Amino acid sequence: VDRPRPLVAGNWKMNGLKTSSNVLEEIHAGYTPGLKAKVELAVCPPATLIGHFAQLSVGSRVAIGGQDCHAKESGAFTGDLSAEMLADAGATYVIVGHSERRQYHREKDTDVCAKAVAAHRAGLTAIVCVGETREEREAGKALAVVKKQLRGSIPVDSNSHNLVVAYEPVWAIGTGLTPTAADVAEVHAAIREELRRLVGKSEAPKVRILYGGSVKPSNAAELMAVDNVNGALVGGASLVAADFLAIAGAY
Ligand code: G3P
Repeated sequence: VDRPRPLVAGNWKMNGLKTSSNVLEEIHAGYTPGLKAKVELAVCPPATLIGHFAQLSVGSRVAIGGQDCHAKESGAFTGDLSAEMLADAGATYVIVGHSERRQYHREKDTDVCAKAVAAHRAGLTAIVCVGETREEREAGKALAVVKKQLRGSIPVDSNSHNLVVAYEPVWAIGTGLTPTAADVAEVHAAIREELRRLVGKSEAPKVRILYGGSVKPSNAAELMAVDNVNGALVGGASLVAADFLAIAGAY
């Protein structure tokens, strides 16, 4: 089976001002033809920077993404942003269902699914995040939790072009802790298997499954070498261009 082209995406979360465009410029400068041949890069800045970053990235082939979207196209939803608005600003990706959204905004699988549907409607690729908590892992429920989240969060019209799955164990996010390579392999294999049911046998092998949670230059090579790991969703380390590029270079 051909392995899908890996994607390394930076999730800047609530970090970044206009002055942060120098980080993006450094990423552009380091995205050499050799690296481009091996890995796709995406940066998901706060929404205030999407338009600016998309303009700066024309010609660089660094994709720009949002971190969340509303399920509706427009309307009386003060403070929210539609997938169409993200696309209009130049985004081609949007992260949905990040554990911070699930935790701080009480998003359920049905909400995440509606947002992914909206992303597809707007022509965006949805990066759907799943992952167990520490309690769930310790109780031996990691696989069951991740599979349930996938079944609830992935729209029926998903395919390898409009869907990326990100496995982010909640306990590994921003903690410096990472699962063992064997644990990552086990969960990613289970995700691949579940995808066969959800998107079909021909599309499932082509869907990128990213690992996220404390990915650093020091552990990237080991994590990226794991079977069924087709890239990374990087938080903290994506704010430093050299680190983000080193992670991408681990491929
Ligand atoms: O979405 C990426 C993220 O949640 C991982 O964050 O800082 O542990 O790389 P971090």
